[in-house]
Amino acid sequence: MSIKNICCIGAGYVGGPTMAVIAKNNPHINITIVDINADRIAAWNDSDLSKLPIFEPGLSEIVKATRNKNLFFSTDINTAIDKSEMIFISVNTPTKTYGKGKGMAADLKYIELCARNIAEIAKTDKIVVEKSTLPVRTAEAIKSILDNSGSDVKFDILSNPEFLAEGTAIEDLLNPDRVLIGGESDYAIESLASIYASWVPEDKILRTNVWSSELSKLTANAFLAQRISSINSISEICEHTEANVNEVAKAIGMDSRIGSKFLKASVGFGGSCFQKDILNLVYIAKSYNLNEVADYWEQVIIMNDHQKRRFSDRLIKTLYNTVSGKKISMLGWSFKKDTNDTRESAAIYVADHLLSEQAKISVYDPKVSSRKIQTDLNYLGTRTEEENKEGVECVDSPYDALVDAHAIAIMTEWDEFKTYDWETIYTKMKKPAFIFDGRNLLDKSEMIKIGFEYYSIGQ
Ligand code: UDX
Ligand code: ADP
Repeated sequence: MSIKNICCIGAGYVGGPTMAVIAKNNPHINITIVDINADRIAAWNDSDLSKLPIFEPGLSEIVKATRNKNLFFSTDINTAIDKSEMIFISVNTPTKTYGKGKGMAADLKYIELCARNIAEIAKTDKIVVEKSTLPVRTAEAIKSILDNSGSDVKFDILSNPEFLAEGTAIEDLLNPDRVLIGGESDYAIESLASIYASWVPEDKILRTNVWSSELSKLTANAFLAQRISSINSISEICEHTEANVNEVAKAIGMDSRIGSKFLKASVGFGGSCFQKDILNLVYIAKSYNLNEVADYWEQVIIMNDHQKRRFSDRLIKTLYNTVSGKKISMLGWSFKKDTNDTRESAAIYVADHLLSEQAKISVYDPKVSSRKIQTDLNYLGTRTEEENKEGVECVDSPYDALVDAHAIAIMTEWDEFKTYDWETIYTKMKKPAFIFDGRNLLDKSEMIKIGFEYYSIGQ
């Protein structure tokens, strides 16, 4: 059967770009993205495309071309479920903050709510596609809720994990390395495969069983994160020796068995996936009593936490062991460049640590709002909202952030930071003027020539 109507529940960083690209390549399919967050839906529908709720290069052009033609954004979840033959679940699955598995297991309450919603509304057969990253065997839970709805509607469950990276989402969706579809029913698998086949070469569409598909997503993220923690561990050795981590990364990356990607030493990885997915893996391993396996993967997170902490410790130590009352200017707040997403960004943890040492922080990020920055800090619960407001000033211009600063901490690798007039910045700062480059973004010798005390990662 060819699909004519799709509903996607969850209008976020995954659902939004993914559905926009599917809509663009399948003009004959009507897609409705629904969300319980009315503000978010209103922003997706805003005639001013700069107000879309997420920033992704190339996204606004695709939304412009498809919106209200075959791509719709709505809060009317029930109607969209009712009229669709295929439903994508693309809601958030954060790490649990309470109860059993707190700080480790995925919180599946949003997924369960979706499944119950679908079970209640569906009057005709549906293909339900898991798009959110989920622990292995979640499809089973979804199926059990759907099959016990009391109606004779038939549900086919597919796992179709998303491998897009934020900041390059559109490019990744248009030219994926592979599309993975896990399922039991050939009919359901082929219905989804035919949607992707409108722009993805057939040999890149992989079919597996549901569990392999779910586990592949966790495994891919765990392997990628492990590479970063591995190179970050080497960066610390470099800082104690004459080795340079950039040179080491280049040298090992030229070995075709190792490959050059994901070897950039940094202040630590962030984002909504890596930590969450590894914690999921650890939780699954522990639940099967596979303690060595759990410890193995947990070490990737321990290393990442260490890298973030090490960065702020080094900054404090270099500033004569105190940052109390000193202005520290942070450039970048998002977890990587070209996105306004800040989930698990290293900047949050570094700022939190510096605030505990009574620093005054000034933040500039090209795409993150001051409200978001305050929300991120408040979420940690380390201090009151008033204290966060007092300790952290968010500014609209990088040059404002840097006036009278004792030190600059580069947290995100935004390209624009490289283009700044660093000589002028130097004159505006307190002396000695320190730069802590958490992304190895700037040219070390140039910065030293200007007069900065320049510290980077692994050099
Ligand atoms: C990741 C996966 O790449 C993607 O396939 C999956 O679908 C979701 O999780 P994302 O979190 O959007 O994507 O970004 P990614 O590019 O993987 O970067 C994650 C973090 O690692 C960022 O904080 C980034 O700055 C950091 N990173 C990445 C490094 O520190 N060094 C590197 O070499 C690469
Ligand atoms: P991701 O990066 O996985 O896309 P986001 O947090 O950006 O995560 O997006 C998830 C979206 O799912 C949010 O906009 C949230 O409001 C929405 N959502 C969560 N639960 C439900 C639900 N039961 N019904 C509809 N939308 C939901």
